Amino acid sequence: MANVIVTGANRGIGLEFCRQFLERGDHVIAACRKPSSDLEMLGAKGNLQIEGNIDVASDNGASMFAERLGNQPIEILVNNAGIMRPESLEKLDIDSIRQQFEVNSLGPLRVTRALLPNLEAGARSGLARVAIITSRMGSIADNTSGGMYGYRMSKAAVNMAGVSLAHDLKSRKVAVAILHPGYVKTDMTNHGGQIEPSEAVRGLIARIDALTLKNTGTFWHQNGEVLPW
Ligand SMILES: NC(=O)c1ccc[n+]([C@@H]2O[C@H](COP(=O)([O-])OP(=O)(O)OC[C@H]3O[C@@H](n4cnc5c(N)ncnc54)[C@H](OP(=O)(O)O)[C@@H]3O)[C@@H](O)[C@H]2O)c1
Repeated sequence: MANVIVTGANRGIGLEFCRQFLERGDHVIAACRKPSSDLEMLGAKGNLQIEGNIDVASDNGASMFAERLGNQPIEILVNNAGIMRPESLEKLDIDSIRQQFEVNSLGPLRVTRALLPNLEAGARSGLARVAIITSRMGSIADNTSGGMYGYRMSKAAVNMAGVSLAHDLKSRKVAVAILHPGYVKTDMTNHGGQIEPSEAVRGLIARIDALTLKNTGTFWHQNGEVLPW
């Protein structure tokens, strides 16, 4: 049984992560701004601890979360919370782009840094794992259609943070996976994706389980394909 944290746990891919980790018997710490009834109902499935009021876009949110956890060891941290706002060159909203950086790029970095003592404690059992749920829309090599400035830029930035974290944390036995979930039917895609959250998360958990200090810092599709930066 591992202690697992999922951010953005109240809906979409985050909620499904909680469901699947609970089903396999892990202790799930579900971090969210506001718990949903779907999340609360998962309590019946196993060992669920809901931590509300955790805004990953705020320094206070991350430090308050660390305070609440105390010295609880964490074996898996899934930085899942994210937002996508459409912008075109004609309708550029700089504040909206800035907000996507706060949530998508700085969120995983501030949460990972705040919880480092917990991850180091988790690594004493062998290895602790950090997953960053990014998007292939943050791949520069894969950008063949332009647009989506804030989302693309903020996901490219978090990919870079993930690689630096992989280097910096290797000696502390904390491995980092940078993961694309596929095109998934959630609120973010107006439920217009290609796959269900259940399929996406099965693949994502397989990637997290396969993470080692040798392959740390890799950018994977949930289906196992290594993606270009
Ligand atoms: N769906 C896809 O096809 C797809 C593809 C590529 C990558 N992704 C990535 O996968 C992750 C999950 O996306 P999803 O499809 O499940 O989206 P979603 O259904 O829109 O859910 C987003 C989650 O992030 C949380 N969140 C947003 N801002 C937050 C903040 N400031 N602090 C804490 N939580 C916050 C939301 O909580 P609230 O309810 O409080 O807003 C919600 O739980 C994101 O990082 C997304 O970029 C998704």
